[in-house]
Amino acid sequence: MTSYRKPDRQILPPLLLADIGQLLTLSCSGKPGPRRGSDLKELGIIENGAILCAGGKIVSVGTTKDALRDPWLKKNRKKVTEIDCTGKVVLPGFVDSHTHPVFVSPRLVDFEKRIEGASYEEIASAGGGIQSSVEAVRRAGSSTLVGKVLAALGDMATHGTTTVEAKSGYGLTVQAELKSLEAIRDAAAQWPGTVIATLLGAHVVPKEFAGRSQKYVEIVCKEMIPRAARRKLAQFVDVFCDKGAFTAEQTEQIFDAAGQHGLEVRAHVGQLSESSLRPFLRFSPASFDHMDHVSDDDIAQLARRDTVATLVPGANYFLGLKDYPPARKLIDAGVPVALATDYNPGTSPTMSMSMAMSLACTQMNMPPAEAIAAATINGAWALRVADRKGSIEPGKDADLAVFAVDDYREIPYWFGANHCSVTVMNGTISSRL
Ligand code: NIG
Ligand code: FE
Repeated sequence: MTSYRKPDRQILPPLLLADIGQLLTLSCSGKPGPRRGSDLKELGIIENGAILCAGGKIVSVGTTKDALRDPWLKKNRKKVTEIDCTGKVVLPGFVDSHTHPVFVSPRLVDFEKRIEGASYEEIASAGGGIQSSVEAVRRAGSSTLVGKVLAALGDMATHGTTTVEAKSGYGLTVQAELKSLEAIRDAAAQWPGTVIATLLGAHVVPKEFAGRSQKYVEIVCKEMIPRAARRKLAQFVDVFCDKGAFTAEQTEQIFDAAGQHGLEVRAHVGQLSESSLRPFLRFSPASFDHMDHVSDDDIAQLARRDTVATLVPGANYFLGLKDYPPARKLIDAGVPVALATDYNPGTSPTMSMSMAMSLACTQMNMPPAEAIAAATINGAWALRVADRKGSIEPGKDADLAVFAVDDYREIPYWFGANHCSVTVMNGTISSRL
């Protein structure tokens, strides 16, 4: 397992990344809100760039020539840790805004059944699927779960991810959901990156509540949400609103309870079937995720709002689907779009944002520039952390990914490869090579 020591930000030495071949700042336009329409492909590229960081924050961004003229840097050069980025691309660390890391084992039987032709829904109704990950999480000790989450976070960092949204959702009892959120908290405390926790108690109706889903929803609303909120274990509440999971009415009830306890909301919607998003808009969700099936009316609604459509093409790839979410239609209509891995054992066992971007390019016709903005600044908007994450600008957190390629388009081009050589998380350097 990767082991980290969380440093005290104050004692981090200043850090200079210099001679950067292509620096993608992602700073743009000054327009408020998430990137939409043609702004999605604005990368704010600086050639031969430099970034100075101190105390875990970005201090200045510009050309190397200008950085080296800086009087403070001239005087203090010896105290500064330098990373030579000649021939490399540096971009904001990826913001993976949708992951399910609290599980114990891969689901290899489901994998083989699907190869034999069974669908995700067929496997789930035969007792596989999400339900089959639940037993092991209920039985697992806390340290096992912490180890699993920390290992996933470590892998994500090696792929250039510095901020991760992490959901519970394989416990499905009050106790096992809280244990899952505690595992996220304890793993996050040992990882230099940033973790945003989400309670997904409403992932599916657990077996023991079959035919009594409303009773389970009451437990989510009256016990899980209040307890998670009181103990500050989650920032968001998520619901899997789809056939075989929770209805729109139940989703509204859960969102209501979240609001009453000061938690923000997001939802899995339109993965298997279309459901109208209108009833949810009054809750101002941070994001709607999957969105394979979405109506023109809902697209028009979202184009006027800051709720982000988070697309997770890894799930379509791994389920062997021929159709992908309508990214082009969403972007062209002005909906803010983010990309995430959906890292989970059933539909998307990947922690690679580069892979998600590659799928976005080849299967959803997003050019590499759009894929990069969707994986960074719009992911930050989807988690409501865009004031400190998602772009390389003075004052923001020092979250950076260094890729050993000449051109940013190579990141999604070399699919299945990992060319990330260094990750900086809140100023802490983690290097692979
Ligand atoms: O985002 N759709 C719901 N949840 C996950 C799948 C979880 C699982 O199959 O374990 C998803 O695809
Ligand atoms: Fe998911």
